[in-house]
Amino acid sequence: MVFSKQGKLRENAVVIMLESIWTEKYRPKRLEEVIGQEHVVPRIKSFIENKSLPHCMFTGPAGCGKTTVALCIANEMFKDQWHANFLELNASDERGIDTIRVKVKDFARTLPINGQFKIIYLDEADSLTKDAQHALRRTMETYSSICRFILACNYAGKIIPPIQSRTAVFRFSALSENNVVEYLENIANKEKIDYSNEALRFIYSISEGDMRKAINILQMASTTGSVNIESVKSVTSKMEPAIVKHMLDTAIAGDFPAARKQLLSLLFEKGIAGEDVIKDIHSQIIAAQMDDSKKLSIIEKVGEYEFRLTEGSNPQIQLEALLAQIALLSKK
Ligand SMILES: Nc1ncnc2c1ncn2[C@@H]1O[C@H](COP(=O)(O)OP(=O)(O)O)[C@@H](O)[C@H]1O
Ligand SMILES: [Mg+2]
Repeated sequence: MVFSKQGKLRENAVVIMLESIWTEKYRPKRLEEVIGQEHVVPRIKSFIENKSLPHCMFTGPAGCGKTTVALCIANEMFKDQWHANFLELNASDERGIDTIRVKVKDFARTLPINGQFKIIYLDEADSLTKDAQHALRRTMETYSSICRFILACNYAGKIIPPIQSRTAVFRFSALSENNVVEYLENIANKEKIDYSNEALRFIYSISEGDMRKAINILQMASTTGSVNIESVKSVTSKMEPAIVKHMLDTAIAGDFPAARKQLLSLLFEKGIAGEDVIKDIHSQIIAAQMDDSKKLSIIEKVGEYEFRLTEGSNPQIQLEALLAQIALLSKK
């Protein structure tokens, strides 16, 4: 099962592979297929009708349609030329603002095909430090005659005011239970899988409005032959928490390089948000059997790094530092 951020997949994988991943296969291609987001879609539609687009900021939780809407804009504006006019970057795995600037510069070197401008979608913009955001703002200005930026982030509050004031802000919300269940039902029917309605509601309750998570769980559970409460439980219990626990045990045993490797796989192969990783670490530590004073020291560190993450620090760097601290405790 592939959980990775779709950006890399779209670039590298063959269509056949994408077709087999339901989050890609059933990703809406047109705005009218996007569900919910009533505060967003009509405004975007009017931009498309006028063939104009300001710089935008998409805020909201994971898996609620931010990337999808950006892709729909490119599809509807540029039709079959959208590939040439759309660049997707991820601020947290592009090793800093310098890499982003080089990629933007390269992309902006050629003229847009079939339109007035190109679109750069920068995911997890809130993972950039304040300095990097100022550099980004300058880059946005340098290329604004040829490129429109769509910045995606969880909270607008983590973005510096000069960027906020230069973008049109679109607030996406987590999808409702009915929205998610209906969407899953639709996929289940198209895939002709056996399912129960209560299992779909259960999937919603686990995924908390994150449609990517919900669709991934549905696909995994379907491989057991039938999607029911039992099969959903059996596949979800093997997901993140187990991987996070393994990573944590590795760090606690003092093996930082191995723990770090597992962390990178969680962040970049499985596409799990840094904040979700740290929440999992927290619950695992609380539940773990270990020496009390050691447990307290780790909990204290987790609190400190969780705060740094919510302040907008780079998740990879912060989580690596946390694992390093945990590994160091084992050497005391
Ligand atoms: N509002 C929505 N309508 C339809 N599908 C959605 C919606 N939100 C998310 N999805 C589905 O969930 C998956 C992840 O959506 P995506 O747009 O990448 O989320 P994010 O907000 O994290 O960028 C995609 O497969 C997409 O089809
Ligand atoms: Mg996205």
